[in-house]
Amino acid sequence: MRKFGIAGVVTASALLGLAACSGGGEDKAEAPAEAPAAEAPAAEAPAAEAPAAEPAVAPAAAAGATVTLAGLTGNVENGQRIFGQCRTCHVVEPGVNRVGPSLHGVVGRAAGTVAGYSYSTANANSGVTWDEQTLFTYLEDPRGFMPGTKMAFVGLRDPQQRADVIAYLKTQA
Ligand code: HEC
Repeated sequence: MRKFGIAGVVTASALLGLAACSGGGEDKAEAPAEAPAAEAPAAEAPAAEAPAAEPAVAPAAAAGATVTLAGLTGNVENGQRIFGQCRTCHVVEPGVNRVGPSLHGVVGRAAGTVAGYSYSTANANSGVTWDEQTLFTYLEDPRGFMPGTKMAFVGLRDPQQRADVIAYLKTQA
């Protein structure tokens, strides 16, 4: 909550990155190589996640298709802050459904089983159990993992943020 200073740093470095890119116009070979790296983290992470962002781990997110949860240690406190992004649509109180279903006890739960919540067919029939690794994969790209889900959330690209939010969710059971 008190980390707006860090958000400022993220934004500033994102701007610097962009400036560096557009400034390098003389050398055309350089520009395409840099563009994807600058684009992905700069466009999404700081804008959507500024207060909770951990700049130190952003490069890992950009690198990381093959990261598994097993290699990471979730931090519950950070996870609680990251859960602020989920709270638009979810709460962790049992039986309280908002735009999305209650996430009380979600770790280890079968998908689509919260009473009184009207799931999409995709979620209801997914056959998935929300164990930690499944959540880890899902939360990176919810609609990629579960085509047809009505969860309109872009996902958490940063593996550490996913590990953290899962660690927090485990405490809410
Ligand atoms: C914009 C709203 C929104 C946001 C933000 C959001 N979700 Fe969801 N979520 C939903 C909706 C809607 C569903 C129901 C999906 C369906 O039925 O297809 C859902 C479903 C889920 C499910 C499956 C639950 C079940 O019972 O099968 C999990 C797990 C989940 N969300 C976790 C998260 C987490 C963790 C975050 C934050 C990192 C998050 N969501 C952010 C709207 C959201």
